[in-house]
Amino acid sequence: MIGRGKCLNNQFLLEAVLHSEAEIKKNKTGLSLLDSILLIMSGCPYFGGKHISSQKLNLKEEDDDSQKGVNKATKGGVVYGDYLQLDKIMSAQILQSELGGNKIHDEHLFIVTHQAYELWFKQILWELDSVRDIFISGHVRDERNMLKVVTRMNRIVMIFRLLVDQFAVLETMTALDFFDFREYLSPASGFQSLQFRLLENKIGVPDSQRVPYNRNHYRDHFRGKESEMLLRSEQEPTLLLLVEKWLERTPGLEDDGFNFWGKLQKNIEEGLRLEQVKLEQKPDSEETKEQMAEHQKQVEIFRALFDQRRHEHLLSKGERRLSYKALQGALMIYFYREEPRFQVPFQLLTYLMDIDTLMTKWRYNHVCTVHRMIGSKAGTGGSSGYHYLRSTISDRYKVFVDLFNLATFLVPREWVPKLNPTVHTFLYTAECCDSSYCSSEDSD
Ligand code: HEM
Repeated sequence: MIGRGKCLNNQFLLEAVLHSEAEIKKNKTGLSLLDSILLIMSGCPYFGGKHISSQKLNLKEEDDDSQKGVNKATKGGVVYGDYLQLDKIMSAQILQSELGGNKIHDEHLFIVTHQAYELWFKQILWELDSVRDIFISGHVRDERNMLKVVTRMNRIVMIFRLLVDQFAVLETMTALDFFDFREYLSPASGFQSLQFRLLENKIGVPDSQRVPYNRNHYRDHFRGKESEMLLRSEQEPTLLLLVEKWLERTPGLEDDGFNFWGKLQKNIEEGLRLEQVKLEQKPDSEETKEQMAEHQKQVEIFRALFDQRRHEHLLSKGERRLSYKALQGALMIYFYREEPRFQVPFQLLTYLMDIDTLMTKWRYNHVCTVHRMIGSKAGTGGSSGYHYLRSTISDRYKVFVDLFNLATFLVPREWVPKLNPTVHTFLYTAECCDSSYCSSEDSD
C-alpha cells in the first residue's frame, strides 16, 4: 500500500501510526507493521536515510489512550443489529430477476435506492406530522415553540436536498442495464408510493391541482387501508392551511391597531404618485416612454394587490393559495424580517419555499432519470411515462406559490410603514431600536 518511492507527509504518517500502535499485529517477517513502515520511511530524505525502530520511540501499549474502554456488547442488552432490526432491512432486497432465474446485477441498486427514498420519506413525514401537531394544538401561539418548528422544517429541507442528489447514484446504471430487468417490475411503479402521496397531501397539494393519471383519480390506484390513509390525509389540516391560519394572526395586521395593510397601501399609492410626477417632468424621449410604461405596470400590479376581489378570483383559479389576510401577514414578515419577533417566522417562510423548490427539483431529476432510462416508453404503472411526469413539473404542485410571488410586491424601504416603538412595541424585544424601519416621530 505504501510504496518505497512515495514520500508521504512522513511526520503526519508517523503520528498516525504511533496512535494506532496497539492495534498493529506482527506480520510474517516478525516485524510489526509499524517497524515495516518505519523501515520504508528510512529511505526518505525527511529521516535522513536513518532507520528508526519502534523501540527507539519508547512506545508502551498501556500509554495508548485510544484503546482504553470496556467492551459493553458482551454484557447483554440490545446490540446494534437488534436495535436497528437489520435482519428485516437487510433481507428485504429480493431481486425479481433472480427469482425469475436470470439474476441482473443492477436490480440490487434499483431496489436499495427506492428503499432509501422510502425511508427518508418516512422521516420527512415524521417531522411534518410533528410540526402540524404543534400548529394544530395551538402551541405555536407560544412563540418559543417556533424554534422547534423551524428546526424540524430545516431538517426536512436537508433531507430533501439529499433526495434530489440521490438520483445521480441510480444514473450510474445504464438504460440497457435497466432494460435487462425492467420486464420483472410490471405493474409496480413509484406512482403507487403511498408515502409520496401522503407527503404531497399533508403539505397541501390539492386534488384540483393534480395532473390526472390516465384520466383517473390518483387514489383509484390504492386499495383498502392505504386508500383510507390517503383519504384521511386529504381531510386533515394541511401544512398550508395551518400556516395560513398562523399568518392571519400576524401582529400588526389589526385594522384598529398598527393597520399595516392600510398604511402600506397609502404609502405605495403616494410613492407611485410622486414617481409619476417625476416622470412627467422628464423630457419626452424613447427612454422616458419606456419608464412610463414600466411605471404603469407597477401601478397595475399594486392596484391588483390591494383589490381583495381580484385576490378571491385568483384563489378560485388556484393561482393563489393563501387567504388575503394571510398574504398580508406574509408580506409584513417579509418587510420587517429583521425585527426580533419576525426573524424566526421569516426563517419558516424561507423553509416553506425551499421545500417547494426541492420538491420541484426532485420531480425534475426524477423525470430526467426516467427519460434517459425509458425514453418515451409507457411506464410500468401504465402512464405515458416521461410525458405524464413532465406535465407534473409546474406551479400547480407549488403549494406555497404565494410566498414566491411576494417578491413582486417588494417596494423601496422608505415606502414601508414606519414602526413607532412607543406605540407599537409588539415587534421589539430589545430596549433600543436601531432598525431602519423605525421612526422616532409619531408619524403613523
Ligand atoms: C430507473 C429509474 C426510474 C424509472 C424508469 C421510473 C419511472 C417512472 C414512471 C414511468 C413513472 C410514471 C408512472 C408509471 O407509469 O409508472 C414514475 C412515477 C413515480 N416514480 Fe419513478 N422511476 C424511477 C425511479 C424512481 C425512484 C428512485 C423513485 C423514488 C422513490 C421514484 C418514485 C416515483 C414516484 C413517487 C412516482 C409518482 C410521481 C407522480 O405521479 O407525480 N421513481 N416513475
